[in-house]
Formats: sequence, structure tokens, C-alpha cells
Amino acid sequence: MMIEVDGLTKKFGKDGEAVLENISFSLNAGDSLAVIGPSGCGKTTLLAIMAGLIPATAGTVHIQGNRSRPGKTSIILQDYGLFPWKTLAENMALGMKIQNMPADVRAAKTKALLSELNLAPFAHFYPVQLSGGQKQRVAIARAIATEPDILLMDEPFSSLDAITREHLQTVMKDMWRKNRLTFAIVTHSVEEAVFLGRFILVLSNRPARIRAMMDNPHVGMENFRLSDTYFNKIKAVRKVLES
Ligand SMILES: Nc1ncnc2c1ncn2[C@@H]1O[C@H](COP(=O)(O)OP(=O)(O)OP(=O)(O)O)[C@@H](O)[C@H]1O
Ligand SMILES: [Mg+2]
Repeated sequence: MMIEVDGLTKKFGKDGEAVLENISFSLNAGDSLAVIGPSGCGKTTLLAIMAGLIPATAGTVHIQGNRSRPGKTSIILQDYGLFPWKTLAENMALGMKIQNMPADVRAAKTKALLSELNLAPFAHFYPVQLSGGQKQRVAIARAIATEPDILLMDEPFSSLDAITREHLQTVMKDMWRKNRLTFAIVTHSVEEAVFLGRFILVLSNRPARIRAMMDNPHVGMENFRLSDTYFNKIKAVRKVLES
């Protein structure tokens, strides 16, 4: 097991109402998790606790790293978090710089990711000169470059148009397959959850409890978006959401 979330409960403030209630699940290295549930139910809170940004009221999150170090998380929030006075390439290298990666390693990784994400022609552009989809790709590249054990993304594609969004979902899927990433994505889109989640965690209204942890073994297969398997899984998730 690479990630183990056990009995997670969260209350804000001493006498606050619960936001998360007894959330438990586990994932193996290389799994992807899509988290879906009603607005305000506690999805961002769950991700923030997994990233170690806020403490849980009860329960534990265990992320196992490579070798004997504890697991490293990287989280992408919705506003991309790019610095306006740094170029695309500089923004991309920022996480690696913070981690003191050697300059030659940084340069090699930046080059590889620029080409993998089709951003090479824009390397010297500043964020104001980039589209939303390009900025989102920089944010993803910056996080991946630091080689986190798990990448956490909170509605990363929600502000993009449908075509860019589907394109980035495919980019994400390809990177996942190629690099054996482990990631969790919060989304409001059932289609996105089914396209990207090896497992789909369906949460209830606040306080979020687990309604279902759905298996999605065919995720990532060729032409998945056009397959009956994909449509049937979408229907199955909708059924749980509407029940
Ligand atoms: N720092 C905080 N202090 C008090 N309450 C908070 C805090 N952060 C979140 N909450 C409350 O916790 C609940 C869950 O918030 P959260 O942001 O996790 O929901 P969400 O599922 O991500 O919603 P959305 O889908 O709209 O992004 C909300 O009712 C929110 O008001
Ligand atoms: Mg949220």
C-alpha cells in the first residue's frame, strides 16, 4: 500500500460540525483516484489534509515514499500559482529549485517536460502571454518535475473550455501511463472522473462520508472515451450520485 487514509475526520473549530467523517481508503503506487461529490462536501479539505496543509481532527494519512523516506506530495491548486515576473521555463523549474536539484538536472528535466507538454515554443513567455490551458500545463509540469510520490490536483481543468479540457485530460492520462504517476484529482465532472480515475471515490453531502469507492479497471485503454465500458461506468457513477 502506498497511500493509506484511515478514519479521517475533520471539524473546523472546537465545536464545529464535521466536514469529513470517517474516510478510509488505500491506493497502490501507480493508481489514480478521482474524487467526486457535491459542492461544499469536503473534497478540498480532504486533499489539503492529504497534502499536510491542514491537520485532521482524527484519523491518519500515511504516504509511503521510495526508499525509506516518508512520501512526498505535491498539490496543484486552482489558480495555477505561477509568478507573473518569471517566464514559463523559470516557473516550471521553481519547484526543483526549491528542492535544490542540481542545475544540470533542472535544465534536462525542464527541456524534457517542455517538449512532452508541447510548451517548448513558449519557454520564454511570461504568464500573461499564455492561455489558461498553457498555464495549467506549466503548473502540472512544475509539480511533476519535483518527482512527488503523489500528485494532488483540485479541479485543475475546471476553468478551461471543453476542447482544451479534454486535451489536458489526455495529456494527464498519457503521462500517468508513461511515468507510473500516482495522483488524485478532485472534479465535478463525472466524465473526467471516469476518464482519469483508476478508482472513483464518491462522497456524500457534508459531512463527507464515502458513498462508494468504484473500481475502473479499463481506465487508460485505447479509445476509452468512445467505448461502451466508458459510457457504462459514467452511468454507474451517476446512479450512485443520484441515489
Ligand atoms: N478554514 C475553514 N474554516 C471553517 N470552515 C471551513 C474551512 N475550510 C472549509 N470549510 C468548510 O468546510 C466545508 C467543505 O469545504 P471544501 O472546500 O472542502 O468543500 P469542497 O467539496 O471542496 O467544495 P467545492 O466543490 O465547492 O470546491 C464547507 O462547508 C466549508 O465552508
Ligand atoms: Mg473544493
